[in-house]
Amino acid sequence: MTAMKLRIGFLASHGGSNVQAIIDACKEGRLDGDPRVVICNNSDALVLERARKAGIATRHLSSATHPDPGALDAAIVETLRSHDVNVVVLAGYMRKLGPRTLAHYRGRVLNIHPALLPKFGGAGMYGKRVHEAVLAAGEKESGATVHLVTDEYDQGPILAQRKVPVMPDDTADSLAARVLEVEHQIYAETLARVANGSIKLEGL
Ligand code: GRF
Repeated sequence: MTAMKLRIGFLASHGGSNVQAIIDACKEGRLDGDPRVVICNNSDALVLERARKAGIATRHLSSATHPDPGALDAAIVETLRSHDVNVVVLAGYMRKLGPRTLAHYRGRVLNIHPALLPKFGGAGMYGKRVHEAVLAAGEKESGATVHLVTDEYDQGPILAQRKVPVMPDDTADSLAARVLEVEHQIYAETLARVANGSIKLEGL
């Protein structure tokens, strides 16, 4: 088992509470990680504010800054490389990663999904829709999944899962809040296991 400091590059779109949980874990010594840069496709997202407060570099990269998808992909990988990132963390990133970024960081891109994959994943399954689908299916439990990112939505190898109960009076919002709490725990814990070598990622 080889321990290794993670130099983390985040991609996020909105609030960034998962990014915050990981930043906090690094600060508090629960994760041997160095948050290097937060890339966001929305220039006014709260996640950028969180990053600035924590003294982490930020970049707004989107179809607004780079209308050509290939150029956007190249700018993303260039930004990550220029900050010497060795692991990429998607946290509520609402876009698909381009082929260059995926190729450069193959096997070293993690994502979190707010359900127990392989159930309730795939294209179109994001945000509130996931929790609505879980409730509509009458599931007794849901949870969060940390997985590696491949070319297919939500289909990469699963690294960690944690369950939460579904309550009879749950709404999509109440279930989402319960799931989000465990997301914050397992994302940082899984990265800590990568950092201490108990999860081995190809190319790290
Ligand atoms: C989380 O539920 C995550 O699973 C999903 O998007 C949400 C992001 O929340 N992919 P936040 O931006 O980390 O607060």
